Amino acid sequence: MLKNIKREKWGSKIGFILAAAGSAVGLGNIWKFPYLAGENGGAAFILIYLFSVIVIGLPLIYAEIVIGRTTNRNPVGAFVSLSKNHPFWRLLGFLGVIAGFAILSYYSVVAGWTIGYIIEAIKGTFYSFSSPTDAANHFNTLIGNSYWNVSYFILIMILTMSFVYFGVQKGIELGSKIMMPLLFIILLVLVVRSLTIENSNLGLSFLIKLNWSAVRPETFLLALGQAFFSLSLGMGAMLTYGSYMDKKDSIISSGFSVVTLDISVAILAAFAIFPALFAVGMEPNAGPGLVFHTLPIVFAKMQGGYFFAILFFILLALAALTSTISLLEVITAYFVDEKGWSRKKAVIVFGSFTILLGIPSALSFNVLSNLTINSLNFFDLIDFISSNIFLPIGGLLISIFVGYFWGKEKSIANLKQGSESFFDKFYWFGNIWFFFIRFVSPILIFLVFLRSLGII
Ligand code: TRP
Repeated sequence: MLKNIKREKWGSKIGFILAAAGSAVGLGNIWKFPYLAGENGGAAFILIYLFSVIVIGLPLIYAEIVIGRTTNRNPVGAFVSLSKNHPFWRLLGFLGVIAGFAILSYYSVVAGWTIGYIIEAIKGTFYSFSSPTDAANHFNTLIGNSYWNVSYFILIMILTMSFVYFGVQKGIELGSKIMMPLLFIILLVLVVRSLTIENSNLGLSFLIKLNWSAVRPETFLLALGQAFFSLSLGMGAMLTYGSYMDKKDSIISSGFSVVTLDISVAILAAFAIFPALFAVGMEPNAGPGLVFHTLPIVFAKMQGGYFFAILFFILLALAALTSTISLLEVITAYFVDEKGWSRKKAVIVFGSFTILLGIPSALSFNVLSNLTINSLNFFDLIDFISSNIFLPIGGLLISIFVGYFWGKEKSIANLKQGSESFFDKFYWFGNIWFFFIRFVSPILIFLVFLRSLGII
């Protein structure tokens, strides 16, 4: 079953960091995090989010990376190898691969919108809007057009497939080394622009002020869920990227860098959006419509907005693309490792299958909008099942696997490899990490799970 074919590796430590940060940094950071912060108390939410990343994000990202790096396998192969082929843990690996497939199919639909919006920005469409309602109507007209929706979805899938097709070093790593620095530069340009607008201090003080009155008990669960989703946890994406990592490289410092980059992008995105938003007199509580309904108006009203709108949607598209690449890589790695397929065949076959599965999602906003189950259309349903069910179950079982089956000695020994000097100084780190994985993460993920099911 486990074939001894020569497996690829990252060309460098920074290659892993940028690729994994590319996976983590996505629509979650630039679209969702700012609106969550906007609705939940600004700086207070940011603090709660940082806390959530420390208690749930860091321990789990280390767990996933160490499983991948120890086994050098995709999620299925990894759990098969560590559990000595136990059928239950093999199933956990499958859950990851299937979740990857499902998330990719609908996430790419939204990723497609971001490319469509680069074109809208170039056409100068936003200047014809006078209110967010106009922008929302235009958005609905676009996604209501099946041709528009499906074409951009297929375009982003083809882009994703071309990176994965060329392999770990020549495709994913090279792509991340170009796209991630570009993403950072664009983000910084946008932050500087936003902070130099007249009256930007209103938005700035909103982001800096600790508004605890907007914090509700459920804010904590939102922040925990967001930390989990934003770091691409629970389905073996970090595990798969970790599987190409060299045993000499430090998981501790690489994982920490990935988490830091992910948090920085989320916070910077909020600083790019709110000062500009307040400056043109808009409200911060737009919710999910923030990026496609509110921001076009902000750009239309601000000086140089034409140019910054294009940059913003390029930023969003880059963030989305580096995430879709990692989703396709999980599926590809499974077929390459376990079934002995060539990478190229796996990419073409499963990229095409994803396109087929994604088409009903792309059509959920137009021709299939009446096809609903429990008032969820196909897109909502796949989103709900994968993000609210598969990912938390996956994360829960991964921490249970490490905490109770793989066990303390072996997992810490593997985590230490490549970080010996760190562990010499911080000899207690392994124990703390293991305590979080064994006791804290399962409980917190379970609470997030109950909330996403609407039980609490
Ligand atoms: N982290 C991505 C974002 O913030 C979304 C995501 C969740 C993801 N799970 C994933 C991306 C798994 C790649 C792989 O937008």
